[in-house]
Amino acid sequence: MTTDTARSPKPNPYFPIAQLQCETDSGIDTIPLSEEVAFSSWQGVIPEQYWSLGADELSARVRAARETLGQDVVVLGHHYQREDIIQFADERGDSFALAQYAASRPESKYIVFCGVHFMAEAADILSGDHQRVILPNMEAGCSMADMAASADVYQAWRELEDVFGSTEDIIPVTYMNSAASLKAFCGKYGGVVCTSSNAGKVLDWAFARGKRVFFFPDQHLGRNTGAAMGIPLDQMVLWNWRLPAGSLGGRTVDELERSRVILWQGHCSVHQRFSLTQIEQARERHPGAQIVVHPECRYEVVQAADANGSTAYIAQYVADAPAGAVIGIGTEINLVSRLAREHPDKTVFCLDPVVCPCSTMYRVHPAYLAWVMESLVRGEVVNQIVVPEDEKRDARIALERMLALK
Ligand code: 13P
Ligand code: SF4
Repeated sequence: MTTDTARSPKPNPYFPIAQLQCETDSGIDTIPLSEEVAFSSWQGVIPEQYWSLGADELSARVRAARETLGQDVVVLGHHYQREDIIQFADERGDSFALAQYAASRPESKYIVFCGVHFMAEAADILSGDHQRVILPNMEAGCSMADMAASADVYQAWRELEDVFGSTEDIIPVTYMNSAASLKAFCGKYGGVVCTSSNAGKVLDWAFARGKRVFFFPDQHLGRNTGAAMGIPLDQMVLWNWRLPAGSLGGRTVDELERSRVILWQGHCSVHQRFSLTQIEQARERHPGAQIVVHPECRYEVVQAADANGSTAYIAQYVADAPAGAVIGIGTEINLVSRLAREHPDKTVFCLDPVVCPCSTMYRVHPAYLAWVMESLVRGEVVNQIVVPEDEKRDARIALERMLALK
């Protein structure tokens, strides 16, 4: 522990809504944590000395710590991280690329993961025993991942076993956006992990091994991927985990027997905001615009878009577009803002005209990064992500099955 008093920032009644609107040209400015009110009631505990530091001091302190630590530390940043964090990332990428980096940097003793909890867990599973993975703010979770709790998943699995007599022909597939315990479940029962950049390949792998897939936790990624493979919508059924145990997720035995994909009823609240109407309005306002969205968006949104793919795919799509192109994007605002700034010769805009940052990604404020980095300089590891050994073993099986797919 540090010698400072550790406590959570106080909630502030003034909500700086302007800071959070989808302004693609400005991005989000750094303000001291004490003034950053939007999510403060859920912020993780941090020593008091970091509360009031402004942008310049925080940047200088992170840089100084970074320099002292040298090769001992690698900072990974997901595309949705804020500008004041991504500037420090040695590697930035989508969740697939970041998992690969984590598995391929044995020279770094510390992996500081600027992203959310499930990503840091995957890094801990894939990195070596001598490495420590650190999540700057332990409250940076993912609401979608939280929708698939182990107890609900095991209950559903038992119910399917009763219906089919065995689960041998059901391949569990979990999106990277899930807890390590769910990845471990998939490893244990012959399943695999996927990300938004390889979900199609992973479903091919799964259908080569079983008759049906149980897809967790994002119904939209599962449905969009299945539809792209030609699976009819009525053969992809939704499992409502909120119903009481024994309800078969709200399905009949007949529906389950006819299904090829059983979709866990999870979603991302950021991507669910994108709608068909927004796409229609964007096309009206900008005739000839290209629309690219993340596959966590609803089926009808993905169908109406010109392209869909992971955060890395979206970044590449914008980079590859010719000068003068107009591109409407359906994904998190920090990435959209960055792409607009990095490509001033193109018009890049967010399809959603109101607030759409990922509130948990946003919790990685530079005060947290400064705290964990300066602690490392003093030889203290704070906010380490440790996946229990038994979970790690099974989850690694599911992750390595994914990484082995070419
Ligand atoms: P990517 O794998 O495309 O980076 O997406 C991660 C994520 O959390 C999207 O909401
Ligand atoms: Fe989770 Fe959605 Fe945030 Fe991605 S954007 S980390 S799925 S809440």
